[in-house]
Amino acid sequence: MNTARRILVTSALPYANGPIHLGHLVEYIQTDVWVRFQKMSGHECHYVCADDAHGTPIMLRAEQEGLTPEQLIARIGAEHRADFADFSIEFDNYYSTHSPENRAISSLIYTRLRDAGHITRRAIRQAYDPVKEMFLPDRFIKGTCPRCGAKDQYGDNCEVCGATYAPTDLLDPRSALTGAVPEQRESEHLFFRLGHFEPLLRTWIAESALHAGVVNKLQEWFDAGLQDWDISRDSPYFGFEIPDAPGKYFYVWLDAPIGYLASFRNLCDRKGLDFDEYCRPGSDTELYHFIGKDIMYFHTLFWPAMLKGAGFRLPTSVYVHGFLTVDGQKMSKSRGTFITARTYLQHLHPEYLRYYFAAKLSAGIDDLDLNLEDFQNRVNADLVGKVVNIASRCAGFITKLFDGELAAQVDDPALLVALQAAGDSIAGAYAAREYARAMREIMGLADRANQYIDHRKPWVMAKDPTQHATLHAVCTTGIEIFRLLVLYLKPVLPLMSAEAEAFLGCAPLVWNDHTRGLGHHRINTFKPLMNRIDPAKVTAMIEDSKQGATAVIPTTVVCDPIAPQISIEDFAKIDLRVARVIAAAHVEGADKLVQLTLDIGQETRQVFAGIKSAYEPAQLVGRQVVIVANLAPRKMRFGISEGMVLAASGDSPGVFLIGADDGATPGMRVK
Ligand code: MSP
Ligand code: ZN
Repeated sequence: MNTARRILVTSALPYANGPIHLGHLVEYIQTDVWVRFQKMSGHECHYVCADDAHGTPIMLRAEQEGLTPEQLIARIGAEHRADFADFSIEFDNYYSTHSPENRAISSLIYTRLRDAGHITRRAIRQAYDPVKEMFLPDRFIKGTCPRCGAKDQYGDNCEVCGATYAPTDLLDPRSALTGAVPEQRESEHLFFRLGHFEPLLRTWIAESALHAGVVNKLQEWFDAGLQDWDISRDSPYFGFEIPDAPGKYFYVWLDAPIGYLASFRNLCDRKGLDFDEYCRPGSDTELYHFIGKDIMYFHTLFWPAMLKGAGFRLPTSVYVHGFLTVDGQKMSKSRGTFITARTYLQHLHPEYLRYYFAAKLSAGIDDLDLNLEDFQNRVNADLVGKVVNIASRCAGFITKLFDGELAAQVDDPALLVALQAAGDSIAGAYAAREYARAMREIMGLADRANQYIDHRKPWVMAKDPTQHATLHAVCTTGIEIFRLLVLYLKPVLPLMSAEAEAFLGCAPLVWNDHTRGLGHHRINTFKPLMNRIDPAKVTAMIEDSKQGATAVIPTTVVCDPIAPQISIEDFAKIDLRVARVIAAAHVEGADKLVQLTLDIGQETRQVFAGIKSAYEPAQLVGRQVVIVANLAPRKMRFGISEGMVLAASGDSPGVFLIGADDGATPGMRVK
């Protein structure tokens, strides 16, 4: 065996203001599989995580629920732990960023950065809510886009025309918390001089085996230039006060990654591990961060720079995955595809999902889709139909006819050797996070095993006592193969593997066991290890997720105040028409827009609508919407928009198209 490596692994720290959902689970399952594989391979591997507990949204949410932030994060933390445990995500430590260890390491890192000249101070002007008496983060300011005039846009970018701007550029800005007109106030902020680290970062990137997709993104950021990073926030703020700046707090994203180290510190103190062995520069241990593609900037630029500047080791690599879609679309509360971990668990076995994600995951940053139809077919066909089936076809005969004893010899040693030999390639796939390939290879082996059993027909041999010796050897081959498949799947399916180990009567399988067999050995009575997915349960899960949607209390919604009164004549100036979507397409380069071709009765219009977050273009074709037909055409970055499609939206996520009931036809006026 290779000499044991020492590896520290993290997953991103989930925010402590919401439940774990299936999107998050892509990451925690991906990491957990990798960690289990490393541990099975005999390496020393520590997997740490924590709740990300600081920041304005958590502070406001606690206030709204009448709790202290500490009470809120304690409750959410307990929920997160339970969700992870029930999906067999096995952290060696799960902690919180609101911890004494994190406060200490954050102060240490900050002080070292400051003393080395990497922190600068300057005053900035920011929006301030005079009613709430606090500075407003960009996402808490709404107003009219300075470029296209679209109303109700967030403080940093326009969902309609795609413009990005500063919140101070918004026309008619309002606080999303109170509706007050924000004032501009000046305050001093602390900045981290990221630019100091450009040469170091370029070297680190070249050495850290990042995926090509990640390197490309980094190159764009280098080309755009590395800017100073604002690491402070004014009171009131839930976080750590900055040691030499009373009334100022570390921005949540400063102490969040430090939370990785703090969680590990806490583990070291409890287990007597040597923290510095893992964290000092030049350490021969390895450090990997698993993250989603939305938080790359923090992990591939700020974080390594902070570590370097403060005298810590750098990450060995950062492993980035894509985002989860469900049935080809963003998870959506209204469609019932925003599925929380808990809702899933109320209906389905966690290992169905672990397997399905594994079957879809690769090392790249591409998004992956949970197709509910494919999910059921895949799990049923592969796990139940191929893997468990092998045991159920062989175990009964061993128990009934041979008193549970395996034969001394297998019937097809060459087949077994071939399946054992596949172990190295499967190990390579796990190590490289190419789980889809690993699952494909394992299922290929299961196919071969089933073909072998089909061909040997043990159920025919069982009827003829003269063939029982062969039957014994055939079923023993089947059981040996089953054990191998269970071993290969063990990082993905820890629960099923444990049950299979109990059935096989063997010690917990480790990776190297793939080179040997059970040999002469007694097994226990077989019980089905996994059942087919009941489609009714999938439907019920979606229904439950829809219900959750209506029960959700939005955290910070304040709808716009009612606009000044108008006359009926004013209203009559607006020509609203029923329109039918003839074609709908993604707009290359636009995050928010869908391009619609609309039949409005007497003519066809092209309209760009900021509804991509909620609707997949293909799904819109044929549907009726309402448009403002006499709005002056607007030139947008992607073309001319000839009208505006009506949709409801508030501060909480979601855009909801307004339609006409069945029977209405394109061109009808809406009055
Ligand atoms: N708190 C920050 C991370 C701080 S790490 C120092 C955060 N939290 S999060 O709860 O929003 O996300 C946690 C992880 O889950 C991130 O890596 C994120 O990319 C991932 N995902 C969240 N939604 C996801 C999908 N829909 N699909 C795949 N991964 C997703 O970001
Ligand atoms: Zn705009």
